[in-house]
Amino acid sequence: LSVLQLPMQQVEEIVALAHKILENNLLPQQFNLQPKRIVGLIFEQPSHRTKNSFSSAAMWLGANILDLSDSYRDSRLRGESLSDFCHTAECYVDCLVVRSSNSELITQINELVKIPVINAGNGHNEHPTQAIADFSVIQKNCPDLKNLKISLIGCLQTSRCANSLALLLAPLQPRILMICPSELALKQEYQSIAQNRGATFQHSLSLSDALNDDVLYFTGGTFLEDFADISEYERYHQWFTFPLAFLKDLSPQATILHPLPRGFELSSDVDNDRRVGIFDQVRHGLAVRKAILANLLGAML
Ligand code: CP
Repeated sequence: LSVLQLPMQQVEEIVALAHKILENNLLPQQFNLQPKRIVGLIFEQPSHRTKNSFSSAAMWLGANILDLSDSYRDSRLRGESLSDFCHTAECYVDCLVVRSSNSELITQINELVKIPVINAGNGHNEHPTQAIADFSVIQKNCPDLKNLKISLIGCLQTSRCANSLALLLAPLQPRILMICPSELALKQEYQSIAQNRGATFQHSLSLSDALNDDVLYFTGGTFLEDFADISEYERYHQWFTFPLAFLKDLSPQATILHPLPRGFELSSDVDNDRRVGIFDQVRHGLAVRKAILANLLGAML
């Protein structure tokens, strides 16, 4: 439900398995998924990457998918209790992958069912599997994780990806530079938890302060959902938009990440630069979800 429930050793085990899968050192037939398992999906918010990568990962492992999203919506419309919905759903599937705008829903579902529940994004709180995918790319690209310098750029206050990544990286004692107007910084509760786990936070209004960092992590795909109107959305353009001219000043070892979907903040004109890892995040996201499902569904060799 949260990266706080995953010790760093467990994250590293998932990522190590994901890297083996990515390098074709582990093929589906080498997993032992018996009997045939069913992955249930409840997505009441849009998703391209998370929903489809969990589906693709399950199919790769030889499991089936049951998309319960419409049933969940209909159950709400019919006035069925969450408890009845969940106790029914757990008869049909072996685990549930849940995304909701309601940050509490996943905890409520987890308390009602006996099967594993995976957080695929809960409100503005967390997105743990995205953070593990991001970590997987960062670990591949950055030789010295102990002295990591990362900039989080965008509307961090509402970014569940930024929250989970800050919490996950914190035990490695990173310097986390938040680049945004102060009212859009990471929520104080997430900063406090990450600080207690080892992270150091700094704040800047200037993207040029990120140019020597190891990782520049943009967020922003939810801007249109998070701001009251288009004029407010446009007011923040100046803070977050990555100028193409900055590419020549960026550290040669830097990695630019974005969990997608993206808005104005990172033009696709940067995609051919070898330092841009956004489609690595997609590939690692799929491999990480294969590793997670293999663990949860008992498909390990
Ligand atoms: N990164 C991510 O969570 O993308 P989706 O919203 O498309 O799942």
